[in-house]
Amino acid sequence: MFFAPPNATQSDEEPTNQRPEDTIMSDFVKVAALADIPAGASKLVEVNQVRVALFNLDGELYAIEDVCTHDGGPLVEGTIVNQCQVQCPRHGARFDIRTGAALSFPAFEATNTYAVQVKDGEVWIEQPE
Ligand code: FES
Repeated sequence: MFFAPPNATQSDEEPTNQRPEDTIMSDFVKVAALADIPAGASKLVEVNQVRVALFNLDGELYAIEDVCTHDGGPLVEGTIVNQCQVQCPRHGARFDIRTGAALSFPAFEATNTYAVQVKDGEVWIEQPE
């Protein structure tokens, strides 16, 4: 008789794109000091000519492309709402900062996300291609 193991893939934890702090992957690049992005703040960086918006959501760092998929609005200048969403300053589309998903009209496509690591007070992100 076969007994399936408990489902280990489901979790009540919030999604996170942060990797463990023990190693920095070679495709990551240092972009900021953690002290420059306190909880609730955002910061614009540019890597490989890609504008990336960093957000600190209650201590968790996230990186999304700083481009609203509706018409290119600067998401780093948006308002953080519902603790994990950013509202585009141009026409009000909302994106999930954790996943990049477009959540409301007039944007329908997700914006790109990049994995984040924090080590020794420095913020590293996966390099955009
Ligand atoms: S450019 Fe962002 S909602 Fe239009």
